[in-house]
Amino acid sequence: MTSISRPLLNRRLAEFGTTIFAEMSALALSTGSINLGQGFPDTDGPEEVREAAVRALRDGRGNQYPPGPGVPELRLAIAAHQERRYGLAYDPDTEVLVTAGATEAIAAALLALLEPGDEVIALEPYYDSYAACIAMAGGTRVPVTLRPHFDEGASFRLDLDELRAAVTDRTRLLLINTPHNPTGTVLTRAELAAIAELAVERDLLVVTDEVYEHLVFDDAGHLPLATFPGMRERTVTIGSAGKTFSFTGWKVGWVTSTSALVTAVRSAKQFLTYVSSGPFQYAVAEALALPDSYFTAFRADMLAKRDVLAAGLAEAGFEVFRTAGTYFITTDIRPLGESDGFAFCRALPERAGVVAIPNAVFYDHREEGAPFVRFAFCKRTEVLEEAAKRLRAM
Ligand SMILES: Cc1ncc(COP(=O)(O)O)c(C=O)c1O
Repeated sequence: MTSISRPLLNRRLAEFGTTIFAEMSALALSTGSINLGQGFPDTDGPEEVREAAVRALRDGRGNQYPPGPGVPELRLAIAAHQERRYGLAYDPDTEVLVTAGATEAIAAALLALLEPGDEVIALEPYYDSYAACIAMAGGTRVPVTLRPHFDEGASFRLDLDELRAAVTDRTRLLLINTPHNPTGTVLTRAELAAIAELAVERDLLVVTDEVYEHLVFDDAGHLPLATFPGMRERTVTIGSAGKTFSFTGWKVGWVTSTSALVTAVRSAKQFLTYVSSGPFQYAVAEALALPDSYFTAFRADMLAKRDVLAAGLAEAGFEVFRTAGTYFITTDIRPLGESDGFAFCRALPERAGVVAIPNAVFYDHREEGAPFVRFAFCKRTEVLEEAAKRLRAM
């Protein structure tokens, strides 16, 4: 027998072991806990959208490889959505690309646009696939940390001076996420304008993950970075049906950008999955055309859930940061006399029968995230109420 002495996982990925979500979901199962760890809804999206998928499957639409850029019906619907919501006009044939969820869009964009050694600035804490995809592309991640502020209610904010100072001659792109997972921060118009100015001044590309675009709870609504001056031509915008229509298992995501950038991203995407989710693409095309009432009701429902969980967490003694967008609440556990989010989350299923995620996993500077813990509220109200009851009793 030969022995393979070199580590099997390559150096680029060595630091990315099993994700915390697998560990925590296993703990949820073995302890019978309420799982507020991973962000997936516990009820499916609209019945008519589910039926549209069944119809497509029965009618034989999408059961064979769909076209590489996505089925025309969906590309048209994505372009119409960007135009109707944000006044952003995209050519559905050349400026829209359907992907296997936002996850593939992120991977394909980074694999397409980075050369080894290019620096990518990402807002820390960041969604965990960013670090792995930057690593797979041979890039170097440069985190800019969002820090807690307590002036007008507790929230995490971006320091624009720190962002500017992070740009070097090697910076290739800014990887932005608003509404922001895990903090629930929504970047303000002024912050987005400053990011746009910086990108134009330093001639940077921008990849912006806007999968929670329909979960902004302030009246201002979602502001896509691509709408700011000079941004449309340098911005790759990423969306996802999983978040907006509560079908996370369908893995339908998309990219909108210039034809040159979409062509580049498609060059990488075609060798990742080539295509995916055939019949679901037709269903998502119908979903995107739902009347405004769907989107309004979806947001109102999630807002009510946020308030149930936020109140429960506050009563249980957590410091609760205000979620302006997404379906996550970040808390500070120090008022409970705790300081290590990892230890707290590992013990929480036994102590309270609830699973949460330590925010430290989303940081390079782990110590910055140590006392923060994330809870997902995309669950049925009675589940959130039960979780709140258990946490209060802890
Ligand atoms: C910020 C962010 N981006 C991307 C994704 C992945 O989206 P998808 O399921 O469409 O791949 C998630 C899912 O949790 C997310 O929170």
